[in-house]
Amino acid sequence: MNVLRFEDLIAQGKVAGQRVFIRADLNVPLDDAGHITEDTRVRASVPCIEMALKAGAAVMVTSHLGRPTEGEFKPEDSLAPVAKRMGELLGREVPVLRNWVDGVDVKPGQVVLLENCRVNKGEKKNSEELSKKMAALCDIFVHDAFGTAHRAEASTYGIAQFAKIACAGPLLAAEIDAISKALANPKRPLVAIVAGSKVSTKLTILQSLAKNVDQLIVGGGIANTFMLAAGLPIGKSLAEADLVGDAKAVIEAMKARGAAVPIPVDVVTAKTFAADAPATVKAAADVAADDMILDIGPKTAAQLADQLKAAGTIVWNGPVGVFEFDAFAHGTETIARAIAASSAFSIAGGGDTLAAIAKYGIEKDVGYISTGGGAFLEVLEGKTLPAFEILQKRAQG
Ligand code: 3PG
Repeated sequence: MNVLRFEDLIAQGKVAGQRVFIRADLNVPLDDAGHITEDTRVRASVPCIEMALKAGAAVMVTSHLGRPTEGEFKPEDSLAPVAKRMGELLGREVPVLRNWVDGVDVKPGQVVLLENCRVNKGEKKNSEELSKKMAALCDIFVHDAFGTAHRAEASTYGIAQFAKIACAGPLLAAEIDAISKALANPKRPLVAIVAGSKVSTKLTILQSLAKNVDQLIVGGGIANTFMLAAGLPIGKSLAEADLVGDAKAVIEAMKARGAAVPIPVDVVTAKTFAADAPATVKAAADVAADDMILDIGPKTAAQLADQLKAAGTIVWNGPVGVFEFDAFAHGTETIARAIAASSAFSIAGGGDTLAAIAKYGIEKDVGYISTGGGAFLEVLEGKTLPAFEILQKRAQG
């Protein structure tokens, strides 16, 4: 993807003494006491900030946190907990600045965190007036917020239009590179795992991937709808009967290309949805009317594991069973361990997927773990994200 990269500007000596505005995605989960419960996004934002400081820039960083009401700052909207964690990671104090749109006092070698940008009026609607004000704060705008790359807001899009220079930060660039490696120019076979409770929320992803991947592994409630499409019984499992036609179309589209959607040959069922519900392994054809399918069976898991081990590239979004319940976690664990053992380049994204990766401790064995939730899903849908669109436009002059 042809975008200007912050690293290149630094290598060309264009950053020293400049005012650099970094849009990061520091939208992290907080508990009721305001403590960060998962800090991946803060850690992922640090390399860009360190890079800018080392290059001698005056550094401003901002992010949204949650979905506050514009124009109404509340204490729980504050980036203060993020500033504290960022300070620990950077080994220096990170001051938080309120009311920053009309001017920021920051000197080369210093970093300030600009309070929750979604509190500014006009942020969500990408107001031109706000975008121009933010652009005027800096010499260089760095988009490093992959998690927000699917939003066209003033601090992600408008500012990139009007800033003197607009470029991609190292995190955004790494995400572009990993996604291109996986989807634009993959080593084959390319295997995608798309799992989740509903076909309806991921239908466009399935349709888009069906044009590209060699194996499309479906899991969770999505697999149940595909089992229905294959004429299998699913008892009272979660499924969307009205989308069976769409599932059939995906299967046919894959077949026409010589590719496949593997349908489970065995499953793990229960009579109730509970962690302590007795789990029964049975052939897919033997699911009873009062059964709920809560995981793929061991034969299916072993078959899929073999395909993953032989893959050239793997894209993973979603656990294949109710992995929060140990009795129904074996399928997801087998898949996770197969991905870890595979020599394929793998890319994973989405909240539940990240939780599964953490549960089985395979972080280091996944090629790239995306920081994007919704943004990652939109990439899988084949969409060009607004962040990339505007940075590409700016790179063309
Ligand atoms: C996310 O958490 O997916 C991003 O930070 C985007 O947040 P949003 O859905 O509130 O725009």
